[in-house]
Amino acid sequence: MVHDVVVEQVHEAVRERYGQIALSAQPAQAASCCGEGAECCGADLYDVETGHLPAEVTGLSLGCGDPITLATLRRGETVLDLGSGAGIDCFLAAERVGETGQVIGVDMTPAMLEKANRHKERLGRANVEFRLGQIEALPVADKTVDVVISNCVVNLSPDKAAVFREAFRVLKPGGRLAVSDMVTQGRFGAAARADMNAWAACMTGAEDVVDYVGYITAAGFAAVSVRDKGAPQVELAGGLSVPMGARLFSAVVTAVKPG
Ligand SMILES: C[S@@+](CC[C@H](N)C(=O)[O-])C[C@H]1O[C@@H](n2cnc3c(N)ncnc32)[C@H](O)[C@@H]1O
Repeated sequence: MVHDVVVEQVHEAVRERYGQIALSAQPAQAASCCGEGAECCGADLYDVETGHLPAEVTGLSLGCGDPITLATLRRGETVLDLGSGAGIDCFLAAERVGETGQVIGVDMTPAMLEKANRHKERLGRANVEFRLGQIEALPVADKTVDVVISNCVVNLSPDKAAVFREAFRVLKPGGRLAVSDMVTQGRFGAAARADMNAWAACMTGAEDVVDYVGYITAAGFAAVSVRDKGAPQVELAGGLSVPMGARLFSAVVTAVKPG
């Protein structure tokens, strides 16, 4: 059970940080969650082509991976992006699902949503819709989505169990989860967890891979896989917790809602 005050405190710190980024960032200032110049998620975030998108969009890319490659989207599919930010993954997804598909982005920071809607108008993407809301209580109907994607957002949630329950609820039977996120091996201590700046910067909100897999499995998902983007040959779901310290890494996460 997650305490309401803690939830509100985290949401406030996160909204504050991403509201400021949305209002102040110039194109190409923020090219990943680690910020300008940092490379915690690798130098090149995407395997898919992003060069055709306007610099305002790619410059506000705040992810830690490439959920688009991971999701292997098909034409006509409905995609939901958890924490869509300025919209980069929604626009890349829209290109893949085509005009018969639909993409919904949910984000709780009004200034980010405004940016995303401005980018949508510029790109003329009628099949992309941005909704204001929290990923712990999605403004999306049951069993309406084929694929849930997300890029460096679940780590920011104070209630990851609720996030995965909601993702499960909105997915159709047989639907897929394809998420890039920050995860740890080992757990952060209480002092680190209380540092709201580090939490909002995608660090200390990250949880141990064993706990993370536990939330996904408890929500009802099958075929859960969590791998380190930097060492993808090693499956980490099903491993043991590391007792001391927390190694933070960019994770590649997939799972399926049983059909
Ligand atoms: C690190 S940015 C990533 C944005 C985007 N996915 C990308 O790759 O550029 C995190 C985004 O998630 C949103 N966010 C964080 N926690 C959220 C929550 N609990 N509910 C909804 N949105 C959230 C923030 O407002 C912010 O826009």
